[in-house]
Amino acid sequence: MAAPVTPPSPSSPSSPFSSSSSPSPSGGVFSVPAEELRTRRSTKWREFPADVLPLWVAEMDVRLAPRIRERLSGMVESGDTGYMDPARLPAAFADFAARRWGLSIDTGRLYILQDIMRGVLELLRYGTAPGDGVVINQPVYGPFPVTVEEAGRRVVNAPLAHDAATGRYELDLDALEDAFRAGNRVWLLCNPHNPVGRCWTRQELSAAAELADRYGVLVIADEVHGPLVHAPHTFTPFSSLEAESARRAATLFSASKAWNVAGLKCALLTTRSPRTWGIVEQFCFEVGLGSSILGVAANEAAFGESEEWLDGLLGALAENRRLLGGLLREQVPGVRWEPEHAEATYLAWLDCRGLGLDDPYATFLQRGRVAFEPGTKYGDAYGGFVRLNYATSPEVLREAVGRMAAAVA
Ligand SMILES: Cc1ncc(COP(=O)(O)O)c(C=O)c1O
Repeated sequence: MAAPVTPPSPSSPSSPFSSSSSPSPSGGVFSVPAEELRTRRSTKWREFPADVLPLWVAEMDVRLAPRIRERLSGMVESGDTGYMDPARLPAAFADFAARRWGLSIDTGRLYILQDIMRGVLELLRYGTAPGDGVVINQPVYGPFPVTVEEAGRRVVNAPLAHDAATGRYELDLDALEDAFRAGNRVWLLCNPHNPVGRCWTRQELSAAAELADRYGVLVIADEVHGPLVHAPHTFTPFSSLEAESARRAATLFSASKAWNVAGLKCALLTTRSPRTWGIVEQFCFEVGLGSSILGVAANEAAFGESEEWLDGLLGALAENRRLLGGLLREQVPGVRWEPEHAEATYLAWLDCRGLGLDDPYATFLQRGRVAFEPGTKYGDAYGGFVRLNYATSPEVLREAVGRMAAAVA
């Protein structure tokens, strides 16, 4: 019998969430017992004390897709753990991109490396000059500005536009144009967008690409969440556009988020442009040795043989979005989140400003014993927000919202 998750009462917000008498968690791919999750070595389950329910970092409470598990187990069993060889990964990824997105990938221009952010760092180091301005759109994944600064470049924020009436975020084309016109020649695009969950449309991306063309901007597209797009929305790879900036763009992909294999270390960098490929060819050879043999095998099995599992995951995430939207409306109405704007990823960007708290992240953690990501990780202006990871069982979601309600009661 699985260990259940039991919400703490408002009077005992630090009660442990495991007991031994309730039924197994439901939720298909998310039916991993809480007691098993608690034994995981990953940062999601190790960062906080055992009485804190963790819905923060972008890992999922799933077991591996069967083909990935079989591939990895076989390799470990047979001791096939030497230096990595790209093997069939370029072909498997190119087939996936063609099948799923209609995107043509030149496997001769696919570079394999340890992870997405290392790719961004090296592209900035070799493709730009010290002090160059790199445009980002906050709220955005926290390591974006950190990596720009690590590379010795300047962070230029062109914030997303937020429609206060609908709660929807959009690319602010005026802000982007101002940033490009001011001479900032690189745009670090998050497509789809973490944390707001928008899946940028072809029209939105084309309008932005036109601006990038006009000002000669190099686009670095982080498309790690590309497989995690929810129907009826469809993913538009930036490099699939007609624009010159799309042809020149460098794009980064990985199976890490959609198949939960981030710890195995493997990502893919590609471009349609010989000139941009010239930047990649300058990378120090160690960068090309940074992925692991298990990461390459996992990415190959994910893109090549685990699309059905991905579709099952997307179905379970759709259920979770409905559930989370309802729970928040009923139990914590001061929190604003529109499930219909959550078009991609498994990350919910919760607007907690209506609760009137100084620090919602700290309140939920300290009083509710539930851990999210603080909004300030995505930009200084977002202290009134938290990011919730809903790639977990319905039981954990119910408990998390119960803890939020208890924290603000
Ligand atoms: C937009 C985005 N880029 C990059 C990453 C991290 O990828 P990696 O671990 O491959 O650097 C994440 C992780 O959540 C992410 O959301």
